[in-house]
Formats: sequence, structure tokens, C-alpha cells
Amino acid sequence: MHPGPIGIFDSGYGGLTILQQIRRAMPQYDYIYLGDNARTPYGTRSFEVVYEFTRQAVERLFGMGCHLVVLACNTASAKALRSVQQNDLERLDPHRRVLGIIRPTVESMGGLTRSRHVGILATEGTILSASYPLEVKKLFPDIVVTGQACPLWVPLVENNEAASPGADYFVKKYIDALLEQDPLIDTVILGCTHYPLLLEKIRSYMPAGIQVVCQGEYVAASLKDYLRRQPEMDERCSQGGQCSFYTTESVEKFISSASLFLQEPIEVKHTTLG
Ligand code: DGL
Repeated sequence: MHPGPIGIFDSGYGGLTILQQIRRAMPQYDYIYLGDNARTPYGTRSFEVVYEFTRQAVERLFGMGCHLVVLACNTASAKALRSVQQNDLERLDPHRRVLGIIRPTVESMGGLTRSRHVGILATEGTILSASYPLEVKKLFPDIVVTGQACPLWVPLVENNEAASPGADYFVKKYIDALLEQDPLIDTVILGCTHYPLLLEKIRSYMPAGIQVVCQGEYVAASLKDYLRRQPEMDERCSQGGQCSFYTTESVEKFISSASLFLQEPIEVKHTTLG
């Protein structure tokens, strides 16, 4: 058994917000980031398609030597994680693991909300899957969860329009729609890895007293705890402090957009899936 990097997968650039927090918490490990930018967004795609694309990405990351893969995408975590774990892991390699980011995000909720009314802003796919309310029901049955799909937020981020005046209309629109559904919400979770790029605007339209939570630091803390509790998996994760990047789109495009998310020069390679 050769130790390998930890694989971080997202449909596009959003997972970089998770990668950043994971590397901040655990800089000693090696990482491979894979963005399926050529086929993003996943948020409006069917269950079958998201599952198929995610399975291909997991297989590719396993093929690159990763023993542990994190789906740093809520849509993939909501629509594909369980299927990959149940249908594919045994066949691919029962010793490897795939983790999602919804469970660790939900685990953080109990200590964050006082009113016990929480809002989730996410892609259409994540909201329709009802993954957040289902997980919350298991862990915190007293918390009322209300979801609001924000279908235009990912395109705004992917097209580098997050800071533009045009983004304001759509940021306000979905926040208003969420709070209209439940005015008792005191905590809003950004349940899409792209949304931290809109954080400033989101905060500016959120009424005072409502906290906006990005999931990255909770996912990072949970992964750290997972590796502490799973020493066998920890041994399978190489520790050279390196990070490499792969995209299914053009390398130049990835480098230019990734600079919005990361404050460091990166080397990127092209790959294909499927
Ligand atoms: N980053 C993905 C998520 O967290 C959404 C992007 C997409 O729609 O592909 O849900």
C-alpha cells in the first residue's frame, strides 16, 4: 500500500473554498483537487447524471492514488454520495473511502442556532434532494429547517460576476424568498461551496441578527477528527504538503478563475472523465 493524496472533488471551482479550509487545518497532507468544470453546474442536473459524473470522478481520483476522497460539493454529496458508497466502493476498493460535506455541516448546526430555525441556501438539486432536512431530523429533531434554491448564484460565481452590481438583484431575491418562508430563522447556512464567494453581498442583504455560516471550517474540523479516529486511513494519506489541481476544462480558464478563490499561483493539469 502506497500512501496517496487526499482527493477533493467539486463540479467546478466551489470546492476550492473547502480545500482552502482543509489545507489551513491540515497543511501537512498532500491533496489533489479535481474540478469537473467542463460539465458544471451539477445543481440543475438529474440524480442519475450527478451520480454518474461523481462516480467517474471518484474512480479517477482513486486511479491517481487517493485512498480518501471528499466530495466538496453539496450537490454531489446530496445526490451521489450514498449511491457511490453503497454501489461502487466494494467493487472499486473496499479499503478506500468517500466522504461528503452535508453531515459535518449539519453537525455544526446544533450549537449555532438559538431560535432553532435554520435556513439553507443551496442549489436546486440539493434543496430538492431534501438531504439537509433529513440529516437535521436525525441529529437535531427540534430544529426547523427551511431551504431555498438559488439557481442563479453558481453561474454568477462561475462567470466572475459575484461582485458586480447585477448580482445584487439575485442575492436579495433569494434571501427575501427564504425569510418569507420562515421569519424566525436566526442562522443561514450556505449549503453550496460556491456561495462563500458571494458572502459580502449576502451579508449586506441579510437582516441584522441573522448569522451567515460558511461550511468550510466545519468540514475541515470534521475531516481532521475523522483522520484522528481512523489511524489506518491516516497512514494511507501521504504527508508532503503538496497540492495539485486537475480540471476537465481548459487549464488557462481554470487558472484565471481559481485566482478568485485562491491567493497563490497554482499549476493545473487537464484531464477527462467518462
Ligand atoms: N459547488 C456545488 C455545491 O456545493 C454546486 C455547483 C454546481 O451546481 O455544480 O452544491
